[in-house]
Amino acid sequence: MQDIVERLEDMRNRARLGGGAKRIEAQHQKGKLSARERIDLLLDPGSFEEWDMFVEHRSSDFGMADNKVPGDGVVTGWGSVNGRLVFVFSQDFTVFGGSLSEAHAEKICKVMDQAMKVGAPVIGMNDSGGARIQEGVASLGGYAEVFQRNVMASGVVPQISMIMGPCAGGAVYSPAMTDFIFMVKDSSYMFVTGPDVVKTVTHETVTHEQLGGAVTHTSKSGVADLAFENDVEALLQLRRFIDFMPSSNRDVPPVRPTADEADRPEPSLDNLIPANPNKPYDMKELIEKVVDEGDFFEIQPDYAGNIIVGFARMQGSTVGIVANQPMVLAGCLDIESAKKAARFVRYCDCFNIPIVTFVDVPGFLPGTKQEYGGIIKHGAKLLFAYAEATVPKVTVITRKAYGGAYDVMSSKHLRGDVNYAWPTAEIAVMGPKGAVEIIFRADIGDADKIEARTEEYRQKFANPFVAASRGYLDDIIKPRNTRRRICRALAMLRDKQLENPWKKHDNIPL
Ligand code: HXC
Repeated sequence: MQDIVERLEDMRNRARLGGGAKRIEAQHQKGKLSARERIDLLLDPGSFEEWDMFVEHRSSDFGMADNKVPGDGVVTGWGSVNGRLVFVFSQDFTVFGGSLSEAHAEKICKVMDQAMKVGAPVIGMNDSGGARIQEGVASLGGYAEVFQRNVMASGVVPQISMIMGPCAGGAVYSPAMTDFIFMVKDSSYMFVTGPDVVKTVTHETVTHEQLGGAVTHTSKSGVADLAFENDVEALLQLRRFIDFMPSSNRDVPPVRPTADEADRPEPSLDNLIPANPNKPYDMKELIEKVVDEGDFFEIQPDYAGNIIVGFARMQGSTVGIVANQPMVLAGCLDIESAKKAARFVRYCDCFNIPIVTFVDVPGFLPGTKQEYGGIIKHGAKLLFAYAEATVPKVTVITRKAYGGAYDVMSSKHLRGDVNYAWPTAEIAVMGPKGAVEIIFRADIGDADKIEARTEEYRQKFANPFVAASRGYLDDIIKPRNTRRRICRALAMLRDKQLENPWKKHDNIPL
């Protein structure tokens, strides 16, 4: 017995060492933590239960028969984040460059399958040279097994990808199918083909970082959601993020006690909207003043800044916030903002997270760039997402709500549950000037007439009363009472029940 226990301990120590001290040191030299250090930092101390520590690859080609490392380049198992169960896999770059073998893939699939059965998030820490070259198609098969599980888990348990090293070729498609992608600046990258292939095919010269680094994907492509300075910051922020998440679609998000009173007035909001309707103001100020303790976890802050999305809490419960940002493109909806917000709305709907929408939108962005780029189809994504969402939806129009964008932004007509407006709201088909120039085109040469008509239109429509008189708004509220009114609305909606008709799945315009 003693012998076998010693042997077990030896095997464990060997597995814990991965590719060896020298390679771990090389990992540190690159500013990266090891696979195990990442798990230690992410999970509550002592909560990690490792699985499959003794799994080895089964390949024998290219000298691999004598080259085995227990664990085979990925550390898998489960543990907790602030007491809540999560499943993890963390690729170990020190073992065959973290490359994915058949056995490595089986380990990942095992934790994904279990997470689905018990209803808990899956967090993948990616740091891999891709398909294990020595294994050929067995490795490709392994990737596809993971892809299939990503799709089955989508909308069932939250899936989060941390990109903490290389992630290239077809390997990018597993993270791409997860709910959120977080990256680390300067040490992680994602691309379908690397700089060398790009140079050969398109003659462009580009670095790894420029092609697929964290800044590129969080500001240009929109593939990733957040970029962090280093592994430690990324993992600590991920812990904060998990606190907002429900464990699965069978669950509601955790409630965190708060000292922030639900009926806290915020008098400064009465002066948020500038007197000049064309002057911007910072919508983030409103969000931070309304949510619990000003704690707002923004998603994609550096991409499509004309719309803000992220998680916060109201009376301790998670809400998804969607808000037009008048500071960027006057808050217009365009292709990128529509896609960004649509995906966010759908995530919230999958995971029982109520949606609070703040509206100040002058319309869709005009122009050939938008039309040729397919704003019709992409704008429809957001419309579709709001319309199909059955979670509680609370909407506050702060200023402009013009045209189709009024309809899209969680209006009453798209089953908005509680729709409020501030007294400063303007709800109409279009702004007064544009409207008058169309319906009184004959008067265009007469400045006085146009001015009078514009004023008439402004009086009639640049206010919330017409919409309120039709019941499209449930009430016109004082800005200072916004937090209280939203909290009350969400409390009233806590047991909301609404189901869409049975279908295999919908056909959202992709
Ligand atoms: C097997 C691999 C490997 C791989 C790296 N290694 N990638 N072993 N299969 N895919 C090994 C190296 O041989 C080396 O072993 C160790 O990992 C570290 O690699 P280095 O090259 O020394 O590290 P670095 O200089 O940091 O470069 C990292 C890298 C590079 C950029 C990732 O290794 C690389 O380009 N690897 C190949 C990437 C690739 O083409 N993968 C296949 C993509 S296709 P030793 O023993 O020398 O330390 C793909 C398809 C997926 O993934 C399809 C899904 C559908």
